[in-house]
Amino acid sequence: MKEKLEALREKALGELATLETPKELEEFRVRLLGKKGEITELLRGMGALPAEERPKMGQLINQLRSELETALSEREQNITALLKEKRLKEETLDVTLPGTKTKEGGLHPLNIVLNDLIDIFQSMGFDVVDGPEVETEHYCFEALNVPKDHPARDMQDTFYLAENLLLRTQTSAAQARTMEQRKPPIRIICPGRVFRADEVDATHSPVFHQVEGLVVDKGITLCDLKGVLEQFAHEIYGPETEVKFRPSFFPFTEPSVEVDVTCSECGGKGCRVCKGTGWIEILGAGMVHPRVLAGCGIDPEEYTGFAFGIGLDRLTTTRYKISDIRLLFENDQRFLEQF
Ligand code: PHE
Repeated sequence: MKEKLEALREKALGELATLETPKELEEFRVRLLGKKGEITELLRGMGALPAEERPKMGQLINQLRSELETALSEREQNITALLKEKRLKEETLDVTLPGTKTKEGGLHPLNIVLNDLIDIFQSMGFDVVDGPEVETEHYCFEALNVPKDHPARDMQDTFYLAENLLLRTQTSAAQARTMEQRKPPIRIICPGRVFRADEVDATHSPVFHQVEGLVVDKGITLCDLKGVLEQFAHEIYGPETEVKFRPSFFPFTEPSVEVDVTCSECGGKGCRVCKGTGWIEILGAGMVHPRVLAGCGIDPEEYTGFAFGIGLDRLTTTRYKISDIRLLFENDQRFLEQF
């Protein structure tokens, strides 16, 4: 009997050392110490022993039981500690690792150039005003000295929304609105989208952007116009850029000019961008027509003014050497990420 107990002890302790999970431990406990466990069976079997051996055996079995119970709870503590350590190892968070970067948004190239432009004109005392994209014929044409059957309306193929309601073809529509609302001195720029029924190709889009400028005050002359636009061109393209004023025609300005700058691509030698001319046209301008002033309630005998309309898309494509205007409108991430 004694040997049997000793063998059981050896076997049980040996097995215990190999157990690794709480579940295995529980099974072990039930199997040895449970109600129907081996130890309990041994105690029950004591009836078969001679009476004088019983107390001694009982003592030995109880000893073994408490020894196993202690070993079991030690093993249990060991296993919990091991499991905890393992989990901590697996779940380590290295706070010194660099984080995952989220992609930042950025400004559209048109907005970058527009912001520069706004800075330049604000530093010369211009306000920025906003005008509606849906305009009346009155502000887009009539108030600008372009009557119904004037051939100049053909220059600007117009999207009509309803009779007398259209998508503005030029930010010049803001000229008349501003002059009606403000008294001179007026110094404003009005940036925005404009719309013309154009076929889409590398240099044309039915939606594009202009920045209209308007100055009205006493004694404003063509020299002021030249000075402001030269200053603007030098700040945008660099001080060595030459600026050329060509006579032109717009119904709302008299005299009218178109302004070219030396091609930023070839420096004026002639290349693909400037179609070999060495010059790039960037804007139309002129002295506000007396009829336009008078129509808005400003006395042309007392006040004069100039206006200009800058093509923002052209400015942007030449600055960044973008070969196709469509890229500005397609919102291809691969294109936009470069700015
Ligand atoms: N609005 C004209 C255009 O779209 C440009 C312009 C603006 C010309 C102001 C003169 C004065 O072509």
